[in-house]
Amino acid sequence: MSSNIVIAIDGYSSCGKSTLAKALAQKLHFIYVDSGAMYRAVTLYFIRHHVDLHDHQQVAEALKNIHLNFHSRDYQTHITLNDEEVSEEIRRMPVSDNVSAVAALREVRHEMVKQQQRMGRSKNIVMDGRDIGTTVFPDAQLKIFMTADPKVRAERRYKELYEKNPDITLEEVFENLAHRDYQDTTREESPLIRAQDAIILDNTNMTPDQQLDFALNKIKSLLDPE
Ligand code: CDP
Ligand code: CDP
Repeated sequence: MSSNIVIAIDGYSSCGKSTLAKALAQKLHFIYVDSGAMYRAVTLYFIRHHVDLHDHQQVAEALKNIHLNFHSRDYQTHITLNDEEVSEEIRRMPVSDNVSAVAALREVRHEMVKQQQRMGRSKNIVMDGRDIGTTVFPDAQLKIFMTADPKVRAERRYKELYEKNPDITLEEVFENLAHRDYQDTTREESPLIRAQDAIILDNTNMTPDQQLDFALNKIKSLLDPE
């Protein structure tokens, strides 16, 4: 049995998963992996190369040509797609509008899960996503399932996106989150669902610092059983 610690954070769109995961990783000196960024980068490649999502062979071929890498700079996670930095581009609406359809494909999930499991094999790691506690690391020592009021989530994400794109509307963001949550929870292949042993964290009325304290309290006994 491996002795490394895995913290799995899952939940709905824009409910603070990566904010919490990043803060935990920084505090505990763990590796942070944003699994959503991987699905977003694959989606960007599929858009650019006009991959037909109904053509399994095309999807499989495209996946062979995709090489993803994470690197850290200034405590921020950056992702490269075939050596091109795409961290900003993958957050834009064209990717957000298509990512859940791409992430529903069996071939895509199998490849991403394989890579994610490899990353957490021997390192202390915090990973956030939709299926981390259920599929990627079902034996994770700590699982947190995050949720927040959908309107609050949309307002938070809108604020973030508006800084870069003042044309965006709150309605558009709300619709995107609702649509993705629907697709993510109803897909056949490892849908977003709370692992039975996951702790629920509703941060509707919490600041990022408060949610970090909540998680650190849960971790305390895990890291320091004395
Ligand atoms: O940050 P946000 O919550 O908006 O999304 P994300 O974590 O970047 O994930 C983008 C999309 O990738 C999700 O809506 C899911 O469709 C997919 N995803 C997934 O299927 N499984 C994961 N482990 C992570 C993301
Ligand atoms: O990773 P996920 O899509 O679940 O969400 P996120 O990117 O961590 O958070 C979405 C936005 O909500 C960010 O702008 C966070 O700063 C903000 N946030 C917040 O205002 N209060 C919290 N308790 C958690 C996140």
